[in-house]
Amino acid sequence: MQDTSSTPRRLHIGAAYYPEHWSEEDWAEDIRLMRAAGFTVVRLAEFAWSSMEPAEGQFNFDWLERAIAQLSEAEILTVLGTPTAAPPAWLTQTYPQTLATDENGRRLQHGNRCHYCVNSPTYHAAARRIAGAMAERFGKNPDVIGWQIDNEFWRPCYCEICQVEFHRFLQSRYGDLETLNRRWSTAYWSQTYFNWEQIPVPRGNHNPGLMLEHKRFITHSYTHFQKTQIDAIRPHLAPGIWITHNFMGWFDGFDHYDLSQELDIASWDWYVGMGRNDYAISGAMHAIVRGYKNRNFWVMETQPNQVNWASINNSLEPGETRALAWHAVGHGADAWLYWQWRSAYSGQEQYHGTLVDQSGQPRPFYSDVKALGADFAKCSPVLIDTVPAAQAALLYSFDSRWAIQNQRHHRDFDYVKHFVHYYRPLAIRNISAAVISPDAPLDGYKLVVAPALNVLTEPQANALSEFARAGGHLVLTLRTGMKDDANALLPMRQPGWLREAAGAEVEDYYALLEPVAVQAEGWDGRAQIWGERLKVLDSENTHVVARYGAGHGWLAGQAAITVHNYGAGKVYFVGAYLDDAAQDALCVTILREAGIHPVLETPAGVEACLRVGADGHEVFILINHGNASQTVWLPWQACNHLNGQIVTHLALEPYGAAVLTLV
Ligand code: GAL
Repeated sequence: MQDTSSTPRRLHIGAAYYPEHWSEEDWAEDIRLMRAAGFTVVRLAEFAWSSMEPAEGQFNFDWLERAIAQLSEAEILTVLGTPTAAPPAWLTQTYPQTLATDENGRRLQHGNRCHYCVNSPTYHAAARRIAGAMAERFGKNPDVIGWQIDNEFWRPCYCEICQVEFHRFLQSRYGDLETLNRRWSTAYWSQTYFNWEQIPVPRGNHNPGLMLEHKRFITHSYTHFQKTQIDAIRPHLAPGIWITHNFMGWFDGFDHYDLSQELDIASWDWYVGMGRNDYAISGAMHAIVRGYKNRNFWVMETQPNQVNWASINNSLEPGETRALAWHAVGHGADAWLYWQWRSAYSGQEQYHGTLVDQSGQPRPFYSDVKALGADFAKCSPVLIDTVPAAQAALLYSFDSRWAIQNQRHHRDFDYVKHFVHYYRPLAIRNISAAVISPDAPLDGYKLVVAPALNVLTEPQANALSEFARAGGHLVLTLRTGMKDDANALLPMRQPGWLREAAGAEVEDYYALLEPVAVQAEGWDGRAQIWGERLKVLDSENTHVVARYGAGHGWLAGQAAITVHNYGAGKVYFVGAYLDDAAQDALCVTILREAGIHPVLETPAGVEACLRVGADGHEVFILINHGNASQTVWLPWQACNHLNGQIVTHLALEPYGAAVLTLV
């Protein structure tokens, strides 16, 4: 299932570094400290447009070449970012139409970042020129191992160019207006469109079809903008040099599967922000990013102790960055980079955590990173070319997320929370789970969970049905199979094209004011937020796992959860949004029946992940996510590569980790 073709040959550790903020005399000491911390990589230049092209068409890359060379002398490699998130002032002044327009029709000002219009042809030309010039100069530089396009794409633009492009986009998707009007039911509220120009770019809530297509249009816009730069860079790159983009956690402004298609690897920027890390949530996020390419990924940015943008910018605890780093590696990260190395004297992010302060001296946090650098060096050889193993997969769908978020129906219904409600019981039991697109192949998994797969296409339903028929365990949950890909209701009851596989359908759905009792064999629980009344269609092969108790007139006594023996497999249909304890009990039953076992049994708060090499060699990564010591007993003898000891049990210090192979 896993593709290792772009997996780097070592585990990397490093930071974002901005040599352009400093005089060249300062670089040597910065680089000495990086080397002492065990750095193997830095990311450079992703906001350095004004330093690289100070006037239109006049390039100055000499300083960058000198920085790359000095880093290389310290055995530190470079990832180069294209600087298009930060257009220079000469560009926005000469071409004001390249500035984005916000939802209220206001052109943005110069002086922050991401203030460009993603569809501006003038901006595309400027982006192509700087990206191409960078690649011409550095594409074959042996110290430059990868490229990042732009930085954290996000901004939708509402200018006239974008409106025209939106209409073109709709035309290419629907062909003619008659089809669009029919699929969006535009006779409703007299929305019928007689020409394409009449279709609004949605501000606020609108027709569900229009809302969904606008998200797809933003996806299309960024995919196109990114491709413009990839095409300018790729021809200049030496073989094996990869291209990525750094995505943001749960951000849902566009479909990340589509954007990842043209990339060689996915990467993301992981910040805990305020509070403490919840490893079930961050584990889900890592797994989602791994699923973009079904490949190992990079954590391109992470916090050196604290951020500057949360409402309380609390720091990590001493040692905690080690737990966060190994957690990421356990889930398939091959690199771990802090943002940023050193605090600039000014600029918008003065209070952000760094490894080295503005005086050039290491902060206390630096010593944690130095220890981690040494640990990465020790474990790199054993982790090369390994990828996380997964017995289960969860489907994560941008279409479904958008469709639900626009019509939550219950204010507390949140697609992401519902998704994590299914991921958490697996995460806390050390069940290795992949997160994949609903269009990804399903072979190789024993269990597939489709949380709230609201927008469902016929091919997706066929693949899911086939997976179960062939012996897989499939879990369908509430709100699944309700909409088609134009966000219209399917002409049959939920779960739509999956009714036959489910052996049951939804008679009606209810947003719940009060929790409703749910009774199963072996556990009692409550449905909260949402309850669906299930009707069994194939009574011979369908078992009612749980029923609603008294309290809600329409649900009382009705089926809440069913399981259908379908072909050689089973299809669960969970119509109730269960409380945490009941959800856990249900998941335990499903895991048992699907024959899924944990990577390792560990005490609560200690996570165990497994990475496997192409030759089958297994590497277990254990992480203590808590601030108290924990003892873990192993079922076998192992070598802990962090200290070379042969062990049958481990005493993990607070936020401690172990990297084990069997002996
Ligand atoms: C990221 C961004 C970085 C930096 C960081 C601060 O979103 O990519 O450039 O601003 O946040 O946490």
